[in-house]
Amino acid sequence: MKVLVTGGAGYIGSITAKALEDGGHTPVILDSLLTGPRVFVKDRIFYEGDIADRDLLSRVVDEHPDIDATIHMAARIVVPESVEQPYEYYRDNVAKSLELFDQLDTLGKSRVLFSSSASLYGLVEDFEVTEESPLEPGSPYARTKLMMEMALTDMAGATDLRAIILRYFNPIGSDPDLESGIYVREPSHVLGQLVMAAQGQKDAFTITGTEHPTRDGTGIRDYIHVWDLAQAHVRAVERFDDVLAEVDAPSTIINVGTGDGVTVRELVAAFEKVFGRSVPVREAPPRPGDAVGAFANVDKARDVLGWTTDLTIEDAIESALAWGQRRETVLGYA
Ligand SMILES: NC(=O)c1ccc[n+]([C@@H]2O[C@H](COP(=O)([O-])OP(=O)(O)OC[C@H]3O[C@@H](n4cnc5c(N)ncnc54)[C@H](O)[C@@H]3O)[C@@H](O)[C@H]2O)c1
Repeated sequence: MKVLVTGGAGYIGSITAKALEDGGHTPVILDSLLTGPRVFVKDRIFYEGDIADRDLLSRVVDEHPDIDATIHMAARIVVPESVEQPYEYYRDNVAKSLELFDQLDTLGKSRVLFSSSASLYGLVEDFEVTEESPLEPGSPYARTKLMMEMALTDMAGATDLRAIILRYFNPIGSDPDLESGIYVREPSHVLGQLVMAAQGQKDAFTITGTEHPTRDGTGIRDYIHVWDLAQAHVRAVERFDDVLAEVDAPSTIINVGTGDGVTVRELVAAFEKVFGRSVPVREAPPRPGDAVGAFANVDKARDVLGWTTDLTIEDAIESALAWGQRRETVLGYA
């Protein structure tokens, strides 16, 4: 199959492109390089441009009439930045995505997979969320994702568009061949911070929030190896029509996680086990807006998508550490 991947120069997009190739498919990358590095595109078919550029999309489809599906991953993704720059986030993630979806419908390219996020979920008592659990998007970023879920669901109800919405939990780790991974200079997410503390680029790892209502007081997440996440896309593209036939709807939402909740202290322990040394840890109060967290109920992913994770959190940590060593060679900065 040939698959248009918007945001295919990014972290998850470039690894998904590799997973598609691994599965015998051909990715076509559309990315503005707003944040994604050119080197992650490698020698793949590549269009540098904006998702809202309708003429460009017409050209892509003209040159690749055999595109079977689109994976729409292009977005702005930094939560605190979305609080400071709401206009840019709503414009790029909402308004531009609407242009993309409408143009795909116009061009007769009806299969759309959309990258949504577990950050939509509100707090539930045992932290395990199904696709029906209450939503409480806590930032402009998360609200752009919810808006696009709603818009896509409505468009699928009224047009030929068909949609599978994947709610990603917390992707970690890197490409199995260490050709791409986290590329931001100072990763703000927990594993990136741990790698920096372990490598001495920071004096300590800070646990923010130790009095949450979890088993050890720290936040809980569902860390999924990005390679497993990439495989979920391959499966969703391959089984697209069957998935929608099974749910008997023009669109559907599926959690993509491991099904295991891991607290920050447990993540630190797993990290130290893989790393073979302890990491200096400091404790601090939660940052404003920090979520207690959630982990995925993955019944629908297993039953409808026919997909489950293969890799462990230790695999993901090992691959993140290996990428930490290698990324200067790929990116030109440590
Ligand atoms: N990384 C996570 O933890 C996470 C969790 C849940 C959901 N997601 C979603 O997964 C998707 C991919 O995330 P990622 O971590 O790979 O992010 P990323 O920033 O690495 O990738 C996004 C890519 O989109 C491109 N882009 C942005 N705006 C564009 C536009 N208007 N036109 C064309 N290209 C544009 C960027 O250049 C970048 O390469 C995003 O939609 C994100 O919201 C990510």
